[in-house]
Amino acid sequence: SLPALLAIVASYLIGSLSFAVIVSKAMGMDDPRSYGSKNPGATNVLRSGRKGAALATLVLDAAKGWLPVFLIQRYGAAWGLDAGIAALAGLAAFLGHLYPVYFRFQGGKGVATAAGVLLGLTPWLGLATGLTWLIIAVFFRYSSLASLVAAFFAPAYYLIGGGIAWPLVPLALVALVVMSLLLVWRHRENIRRLLAGTESKLGSKSKSAA
Ligand code: G3P
Repeated sequence: SLPALLAIVASYLIGSLSFAVIVSKAMGMDDPRSYGSKNPGATNVLRSGRKGAALATLVLDAAKGWLPVFLIQRYGAAWGLDAGIAALAGLAAFLGHLYPVYFRFQGGKGVATAAGVLLGLTPWLGLATGLTWLIIAVFFRYSSLASLVAAFFAPAYYLIGGGIAWPLVPLALVALVVMSLLLVWRHRENIRRLLAGTESKLGSKSKSAA
């Protein structure tokens, strides 16, 4: 339907706002694509040593995934938009983050935006996945490893809780699996570094940015 198409395109355009780049510019900092992992994401902004900028990036990149899913689930029925369309809009925002139209399609890895989508779909799913991320991050000190483990568990949690804690929407499950697969693909350099033992740990600053 036309409302569904418009909602998905709008979500992609919102997702394309790379807040690591926008926040850094607004705060007079170096472009995050110039230091550390070169990734425009909260983890890499943290390597600048500016925790506030990293937190703002995390919250805003998550908000752009959360907002379309939340709005469609709450107000979409009047336009014939259901939970499946909400999930597709979330996937569109995630794709915007990975391949942003405003930044020559050179985007991030999608962790914060995916977290926002999960929170929008059902807050408990977002919290369970976020807690999974946190446990791995605290124990192993690798943001990327925590993201990869959380990406594995998110669709599993959705499936397990579906029909019990929330309605299981097949299209949403498909969207979550696609999101996780793309997230892992975007972490291929991190996976290589993790296996080689050269991945940078949380809390270690980037020399070029510090
Ligand atoms: O937010 C992405 C995170 O999982 C890894 O980021 O900068 O260490 O490649 P980075």
